[in-house]
Amino acid sequence: MVGSYGPTFLTFISFFRWNKNSMLTLKSPAKVNLFLRILHKRTDGYHELASLFQAIDLCDTLKIQLDDSDHLTCSNPDLPTDRSNLILKAVDLFRKKTGVSIGLNVHLDKKIPMQAGLGGGSSNAATTLWAFNKLVGSPASESQLAQWASEIGSDISFFFSQGTAYCSGRGEKLRPLDPLPQMKITIAKPAEGLSTPEVYSRLKVDHLQKRDPELILRSFFEGKPEYFNDLEGPAFEAMPKLILLKQSLMSSGYDTVLLCGSGSSFFCFGNGSIMQNSDLSVFSTNFIQKKENGWY
Ligand code: C5P
Repeated sequence: MVGSYGPTFLTFISFFRWNKNSMLTLKSPAKVNLFLRILHKRTDGYHELASLFQAIDLCDTLKIQLDDSDHLTCSNPDLPTDRSNLILKAVDLFRKKTGVSIGLNVHLDKKIPMQAGLGGGSSNAATTLWAFNKLVGSPASESQLAQWASEIGSDISFFFSQGTAYCSGRGEKLRPLDPLPQMKITIAKPAEGLSTPEVYSRLKVDHLQKRDPELILRSFFEGKPEYFNDLEGPAFEAMPKLILLKQSLMSSGYDTVLLCGSGSSFFCFGNGSIMQNSDLSVFSTNFIQKKENGWY
């Protein structure tokens, strides 16, 4: 019966069911990996990992509204806004999974540095899925959205946790965790970025220390956190100047300096005093949690 009306008529009907004028303005937070252990390379080409993910209050803003067709605009002209953008991949994924036929209008105000290992694109995709679902009356549960999200990227599912999670598999398997004690965190991002596939391609899994990720995870909840990232080696090989940057961050007074994901940014804890300059962006922020029955 429904099939005989055609997509234009269904879109027309959708405008009466869903309010095209209501707009959601949502934070889309970055993440850091407080530890990142790579276990092995899989037969599908991905790497099996074990990592403690934490959302941080360094956020893009998305303004999202139903529309007759899809539109994506961005404050940063360097970011492609074609269908290769994860936001539009999320829009297509949501329609495919739910059968909803309406379009989405998204404006992205970009603050999270790109090619930084901070999960900005993944967070934008998660925020889009959450908002699209909300705007059409929540036909999907958050756990369904998290599961679907893994089809378009490994890190997207994490953002459906409460903001702290142990992630395994490709990164898409979530174990939600209680919030960690609040910490001030500084992000330092050199002007040059790093490509995630390139960093992974330089990784020599056999050379890594075989540390038990469950023990490392426990260290964070027993007050003796072991910060480390198995991707630092290959990222330093891809961009040797990161070694000098890490040294200068340490000598400026930070106790902990660790590469974020596959880089090229670092997160720092402690009382350092690094200054922003034309080659380095610096952000002072803190941990953030997702709101109960809401977004960040
Ligand atoms: O899943 P996503 O598109 O974020 O991954 C980007 C790239 O990072 C993959 O194409 C792959 O090269 C690498 N990757 C990996 N193992 C993972 C996650 C990502 O090798 N667990």
